[in-house]
Amino acid sequence: MSRVPVLATLPPEVVTLGDHTKHARTVLDANAWAYFSGGAGDEITLRANRAAWDGLALQPRVLRPLAGGHTRLRLLGRSMEHPILLAPVAYQRMAHPDGELASALAAATLGAGMVVSTQASVSLEAVADTFLSESARGPLWFQLYMQHDRGFTRALVERAERAGYEALVLTVDAPTHGARDRERRENFRLPMDVHAVNLAGLPPAPPPRLNTQDSALFQGLLHHAPIWDDLTWLHGITQLPIVLKGIMHPDDARQAVQHGVAAVVVSNHGGRTLDTSPASAAVLPRIAEALQGVLPLLVDGGIQRGTDVLKALALGASAVQVGRPYIYGLANAGALGVAHVLKLLRDELEIAMALCGCATLADIGHDVLWSADPH
Ligand code: FNR
Ligand code: LAC
Repeated sequence: MSRVPVLATLPPEVVTLGDHTKHARTVLDANAWAYFSGGAGDEITLRANRAAWDGLALQPRVLRPLAGGHTRLRLLGRSMEHPILLAPVAYQRMAHPDGELASALAAATLGAGMVVSTQASVSLEAVADTFLSESARGPLWFQLYMQHDRGFTRALVERAERAGYEALVLTVDAPTHGARDRERRENFRLPMDVHAVNLAGLPPAPPPRLNTQDSALFQGLLHHAPIWDDLTWLHGITQLPIVLKGIMHPDDARQAVQHGVAAVVVSNHGGRTLDTSPASAAVLPRIAEALQGVLPLLVDGGIQRGTDVLKALALGASAVQVGRPYIYGLANAGALGVAHVLKLLRDELEIAMALCGCATLADIGHDVLWSADPH
């Protein structure tokens, strides 16, 4: 693991994920800050994601035997020390020169899972090498954006399989970018030395032949966006389990089951796609009800505290993903910063579990959420 230098230190006042956010704002330039922190439109969903966790109250319980408790679980056939994964986030070398390698080192060392973006700024093989060589590691999944060139997509999937990724996470909520106003105001540009390196060699999409009144979106980009039938195609080219990321409607979750997916991620892309869509925490119980436990369910969006993780599990999630908070840790102190974020979240989760009387994840039920109506 000597490839990634872990030399940075953190200022002593950084003791929460919120502190990491504040500090990162002073570290990142305006261009990178607009990209990483921004959401779509008026950022109503971005704010709602956080507010929804804050709006849930936990129910303390006392005097239960808690000694010997733990946060272990099994997820898609692998055991993990705790239910936290790094969400796929593109272009991490824009946050820190070590980029995805630093995130991989920290996640693997801290027993977290990692989902590597199609738009990673480090080769998927190098990230896998760093991650897989750590014995305490959690699951390693590859996030797939289906490309307009299905042959290229297939080659990408085969590379991920060969490199040792254990599942494909097909992101389905972003057939187009949301209206990223903050990025536009900042005139956001990728720095010269940051690229989606795993997409090198992708032939350009054939230019759509548009008449003056045609929509560049509907007559152009959306000809290449995946549809349900493409899941059948994907199953046909890979042995890997397929996770669908970006599910927000119970009928879509049921359809996902019919299409043989292995897990579902409730997500609104961190408020970056459809603004004014509901908070992921608000939607999670409906998806859990639709799935009735037949598939593992993950959730992301606005998770920033161990108490948020506990609430997510109480609402039916098996595990959670965090996005921006670890990117801020990365910006602040490279691998050390990501490790710090993961340690804080796990420690806070354990504290919250203990104070709600839960010794293991199996003890976490809906009853850890306080209700004003005591039935
Ligand atoms: C993302 N997300 C994302 N998702 C994905 O499937 N592929 C990707 O490449 C990216 N890239 C990306 C970049 C940035 C800067 C952000 C903030 C997010 C979405 C991500 O996986 C996750 O759904 C959200 O980040 C979760 O919300 P929080 O934790 O950031 O609030
Ligand atoms: C984003 C894309 C890469 O959210 O998913 O920026």
